[in-house]
Amino acid sequence: MMMSSLVWFALVSTASAFHVYEQDEFHFKSWMAQHNKVYSMQEYYERLEIFTENKRRIDKHNEGNQTFTMGLNQFSDMTFGEFQKSFLWSEPQNCSATKGSYFSSKGALPDFIDWRKKGNYVTDVKNQGPCGSCWTFSTTGCLESVTAIHTGKLVPLSEQQLVDCAQDFNNHGCNGGLPSQAFEYIMYNKGLMTEEDYPYKAIEHTCVYKPGLAAAFVKDVVNITEYDEMGMVDAVATLNPVSFAFEVTSDFMHYSTGVYTSTECHQTPDKVNHAVLAVGYGQQDGTPYWIVKNSWGSLWGIDGYFLIERGKNMCGLAACSSFPVV
Ligand SMILES: *[C@@H]1O[C@H](CO)[C@@H](O)[C@H](O)[C@H]1NC(C)=O
Ligand SMILES: *[C@@H]1O[C@H](CO)[C@@H](O)[C@H](O)[C@H]1NC(C)=O
Ligand SMILES: *[C@@H]1O[C@H](CO)[C@@H](O)[C@H](O)[C@H]1NC(C)=O
Repeated sequence: MMMSSLVWFALVSTASAFHVYEQDEFHFKSWMAQHNKVYSMQEYYERLEIFTENKRRIDKHNEGNQTFTMGLNQFSDMTFGEFQKSFLWSEPQNCSATKGSYFSSKGALPDFIDWRKKGNYVTDVKNQGPCGSCWTFSTTGCLESVTAIHTGKLVPLSEQQLVDCAQDFNNHGCNGGLPSQAFEYIMYNKGLMTEEDYPYKAIEHTCVYKPGLAAAFVKDVVNITEYDEMGMVDAVATLNPVSFAFEVTSDFMHYSTGVYTSTECHQTPDKVNHAVLAVGYGQQDGTPYWIVKNSWGSLWGIDGYFLIERGKNMCGLAACSSFPVV
């Protein structure tokens, strides 16, 4: 056992671009224990190397003067390529088709809004698992909140129904989709079931929608005008949380706290690859930000949430945002 481990180590070390030290392995082992990771012998050394590369990037980033910090998380043993394949859209979605014409109220807006603090309007952070179904979580998150604001009842809704049944509206299950298109599906389908009645499986199945169990409804879909980030602010301030999509690049995978900004990402609709939910906004040291609910579990980021710079169409976040009318 000891012998073969040494042999593997030597092989990997000569092939790698940098040296993995004893302390790197120590960090890796404690991270493995924390995340209940088990690997085969060969995989162990591959993952150790990727982890070490990620950790060095994180440490270097955190030494600089940045608006956000990076940290280790459940993705720390993955390359960005692997992460992208499992958790993001593989193909560009029709983000620019979500044209829209939302009219802002033009009144004075508050400096700070957080729907989590206004009442029982936001469900717990969920976990999409290895399936590019973020768009379904953005959709349920928004519809859950809009419904709760109107009825006073907060009920977790079914992502799996959207994964399995919403294909006719240009949605593609684990390969991507758009909240605006999912709201359209729910409107024409005349209902969405609850999480409890149609639970999440992180894999595509045949549609088993039961109309008698429809629990949430959409009367109309509002697409916010492309690049009208003030329209998004207005909607979040005066109405409800808003679904949006943006481009996740490799720096975002390691996000830990603070206001995320990036020079790595683009601002165009053809690059967006992840959908999330804006539940509020604010400002920190002169930097305006969005408060955003993600779907990578509550251990990622700030209890499953992140802050991203507001007012600059950061990573294309204002390219295709929308919300339902119930
Ligand atoms: C850090 O960045 C902030 C904002 O960009 C800037 O105001 C501040 O002067 C910087 N501090 C240092 C030590 O570079
Ligand atoms: C909103 O966007 C969806 C999907 O992109 C589109 O099908 C729908 O027609 C748009 N609705 C409005 C009112 O523009
Ligand atoms: C984009 O929209 C067109 C026209 O509706 C459709 O044929 C195509 O499949 C859509 N692409 C995606 C990725 O949904």
